[in-house]
Amino acid sequence: MAREWDAAGYEELSSPQTRWGAAVLERVDLRGDEAALDAGCGTGRVTELLLERLPGGTVLAVDASEAMVEAARRRFAGEPRVRVERQDLLSLEVEEPVDLVFSTATFHWIKDHDRLFARLAGALRPGGRLVAQCGGEGNIARATRATRVVMERERFRGYFEGWQDDKNYADPRTTRERLEAAGFEEVRTWLHDEAATFGSVEELARFLATVVLGGHLERLPEGERGPFALAVAQEITAEDGSPLLDYVRLNIDARRAA
Ligand SMILES: C[S@@+](CC[C@H](N)C(=O)[O-])C[C@H]1O[C@@H](n2cnc3c(N)ncnc32)[C@H](O)[C@@H]1O
Repeated sequence: MAREWDAAGYEELSSPQTRWGAAVLERVDLRGDEAALDAGCGTGRVTELLLERLPGGTVLAVDASEAMVEAARRRFAGEPRVRVERQDLLSLEVEEPVDLVFSTATFHWIKDHDRLFARLAGALRPGGRLVAQCGGEGNIARATRATRVVMERERFRGYFEGWQDDKNYADPRTTRERLEAAGFEEVRTWLHDEAATFGSVEELARFLATVVLGGHLERLPEGERGPFALAVAQEITAEDGSPLLDYVRLNIDARRAA
């Protein structure tokens, strides 16, 4: 199962992801009565926007994190059109195939995209659509560089022995090929920039700790987590004085072959 998340922190700090999710939803053409699956629903902020677009439809919201699933269940308590399930997308199973798989800010946390896309194809009815966005090639390159620098420091080095990067920022061409191999057609994949600026280094550090560096912080003792995130934020900002994350989003539109 994938790692745990700080659901309360994510709920509070995920305005950028919610904004991007809303923009992805704008490009989905919906009748309003579809059965949709939100793959990696988090606390359900974007799921809620998806539900608004489906007044006669249903949403199966899936996430691997227990804390995220609990938060999403609280959000949709008493809403019969949403079911929240704790599942790993790499072994996703659905009772009934859905018309739409929707996913934002999730696929880059999953290493095996071949297997992921095969499971998503299996969850869709023939002709059903996949509309998604995640971190793509070059995503937050400043943060990646800064994190490596800080991991190498004497203070932290010992905690990262054998560390393997926990993100998968795929490029559009490889992603298209993988989707076609998994049984998708009419595949469109493209990148766009979405830089996010923060009010201060401390604000950036808090965001990093909650949204970006969770896998790193798990390796550190409690007392070293804050200092690590702050050091990464300082290193990012040192590049040109701006507490900025140079986000690059990978967009995916595809149809499961009929
Ligand atoms: C950054 S959050 C995105 C949440 C929401 N979609 C949004 O846009 O705000 C990434 C989510 O992906 C989930 N996730 C990561 N790997 C997963 C996996 N293998 N299966 C299911 N969920 C996974 C995490 O638990 C986390 O809730």
